[in-house]
Amino acid sequence: MTPLQKFFLNATIAILTVTGAVFAWMKYFMKSDDPFAVANHPWQPGMLHVHVVAAPLAVFVIGAVWAGHVKPKHDAGVKARRKTGLGALWMIAPMALSGYLMQVFTNERLVEAMRITHWVSSALFVAGLVVHQLLRKNGNGATKVAPASEERDVW
Ligand code: HEM
Ligand code: HEM
Repeated sequence: MTPLQKFFLNATIAILTVTGAVFAWMKYFMKSDDPFAVANHPWQPGMLHVHVVAAPLAVFVIGAVWAGHVKPKHDAGVKARRKTGLGALWMIAPMALSGYLMQVFTNERLVEAMRITHWVSSALFVAGLVVHQLLRKNGNGATKVAPASEERDVW
């Protein structure tokens, strides 16, 4: 993974986390004085707009990190940081799919199920990614560390 990929990964995920969390706080914990208001705070729609624009950028960056980092490390059987890496990895599909299916489904119960899936999977993904990066270089008690040749950088 190149420093640029690492930067874009962390930047897009940070934007998604902040906008998602602030949006949810405004939607569920704030109350507007206006009984006819569709948003509880004037910034609420803006938060969701930034979130929805940043989301495909994050998916694109994850694709690049997949090719240059995740697949080579996974296929080489690298043990270091594997648990947190796999934890984050398994959350990517539910996180991205539930975000979009929330907008696609019309059945209220399915929308609710996607919303809960999105909250849980995105929180676990962010937690996994943070711990993954904070671990020591040979985290998870690993003995095998990837040689530089296992990485294929696309940027
Ligand atoms: C089987 C799964 C994975 C394994 C075994 C793994 C392994 C590692 C290892 C050993 C490192 C330490 C630095 C290095 O050797 O390059 C690392 C760093 C990192 N990993 Fe993973 N990883 C996995 C999945 C993921 C996933 C799914 C993501 C995010 C989408 C990710 C993002 C990162 C980032 C951002 C760093 C920090 C890079 C740096 O500081 O230069 N990894 N990973
Ligand atoms: C690839 C990553 C992601 C994608 C594709 C994505 C996509 C989306 C989309 C399209 C929506 C709008 C749904 C609507 O119209 O109501 C949404 C809402 C939301 N997202 Fe994400 N998102 C991602 C990551 C995250 C992250 C990392 C977090 C926070 C840790 C997060 C938290 C939220 C929250 C709280 C909502 C509002 C849900 C609600 O209305 O209760 N998302 N996301």
